[in-house]
Amino acid sequence: MAWDFLVAKTDLRQTQVQPATLPPLAEGEVRLAIDSFALTANNITYAVFGEAMRYWDFFPAAEGFGRVPVWGFATVEASNHPDIAVGQRFYGYYPMSSHLTVLPRKTRGGFADSAPHRQHLAAVYNQYTAVSSDDGAEALRALLQPLFITGFLIDDFLDENAMFGARSIVLSSASSKTAIGLAFLLKQRGGAKVVGLTSARNVAFVEALGFYDQVVTYEAFAAAPIATPAVFVDFAGDAGVLAAVHGRFGDDLAYSCLVGGTHWEAERGAGHLPGPKPILFFAPDRVKKRQEDWGPGGFEANYGAAWSAFVADAARWLKVETAQGQDAMAATYLAVLEGRAGPETGCIVRP
Ligand SMILES: NC(=O)c1ccc[n+]([C@@H]2O[C@H](COP(=O)([O-])OP(=O)(O)OC[C@H]3O[C@@H](n4cnc5c(N)ncnc54)[C@H](OP(=O)(O)O)[C@@H]3O)[C@@H](O)[C@H]2O)c1
Repeated sequence: MAWDFLVAKTDLRQTQVQPATLPPLAEGEVRLAIDSFALTANNITYAVFGEAMRYWDFFPAAEGFGRVPVWGFATVEASNHPDIAVGQRFYGYYPMSSHLTVLPRKTRGGFADSAPHRQHLAAVYNQYTAVSSDDGAEALRALLQPLFITGFLIDDFLDENAMFGARSIVLSSASSKTAIGLAFLLKQRGGAKVVGLTSARNVAFVEALGFYDQVVTYEAFAAAPIATPAVFVDFAGDAGVLAAVHGRFGDDLAYSCLVGGTHWEAERGAGHLPGPKPILFFAPDRVKKRQEDWGPGGFEANYGAAWSAFVADAARWLKVETAQGQDAMAATYLAVLEGRAGPETGCIVRP
């Protein structure tokens, strides 16, 4: 039976699984059955900014509800497209649903969904990559790849700007997978110290990663010895943390980069701040720029080398846990929403 996992846009804790109908395919359309997907704070951020950044537009739902976008794998169940066969599998951006109908336009590695309602949205989200059967690496790919791409792009951006002359790069929500990817790359570069800010409960996990030169709790930040000038890369999106960082460093803050919103229930937007104005980093924009700069295949080659090294080490610190079925899916969604999943756990859902 087909279904959608719906989230109330005004109360992300309110969810329901609703039966869905599968209309007959139009000319050129393909229907995918969703096999598995990852759930992390990133998906919660899609929901929190669903209206403001148009994440709800990818997979429309009934009035007042949204379908949270996720990264995962699906198998073609029915095809009205001459080049796409039943049984083929694709990695990409899916809803928390049993099925997705797409209007594929063939690309080098798979297809792009040319459904009209998706054309005003960032192109990277509309790309689907052909994959074979699960080679055992699918869980780590769904959990880490979209996040590591962001870490890779931020590292590249900071390098392009000679780290803004900073002696410390300070990352909030240092336990998040996106921050971990960035810390992994910054540590390899050497030079500026990599400083992780995190909750007291996550300090031991973050220290054990070995990617941060210094790990500091949010509470201890004000008094911790941190070399300046500093760059702040903010994954928490927490007004209190942002104000503390700007208040402490002031003009010794060389750059303030706003990336995420893991602390989604905290106040956002800290008003007037000392030091530089925080600048939003939006990975899809930077992907587009680097794809143009580096030419055909250049982005994939540069990114691919970094990814291989990162993912080869990931099993050391990330334990994959698979939730099977709709009840387990709902419980996992709530655990991720409420920050109960733990940074060492990678949540995979098999609907
Ligand atoms: N701008 C972009 O283009 C872009 C691209 C990719 C990702 N991002 C963003 O980067 C952020 C990290 O995503 P991720 O998937 O890597 O995260 P993740 O691995 O799921 O992060 C887990 C960590 O986030 C914090 N956290 C999670 N839920 C929380 C809650 N309810 N309350 C308080 N803290 C909570 C905790 O960290 P601490 O205890 O260490 O604070 C937790 O250990 C997201 O906001 C994501 O949207 C942005």
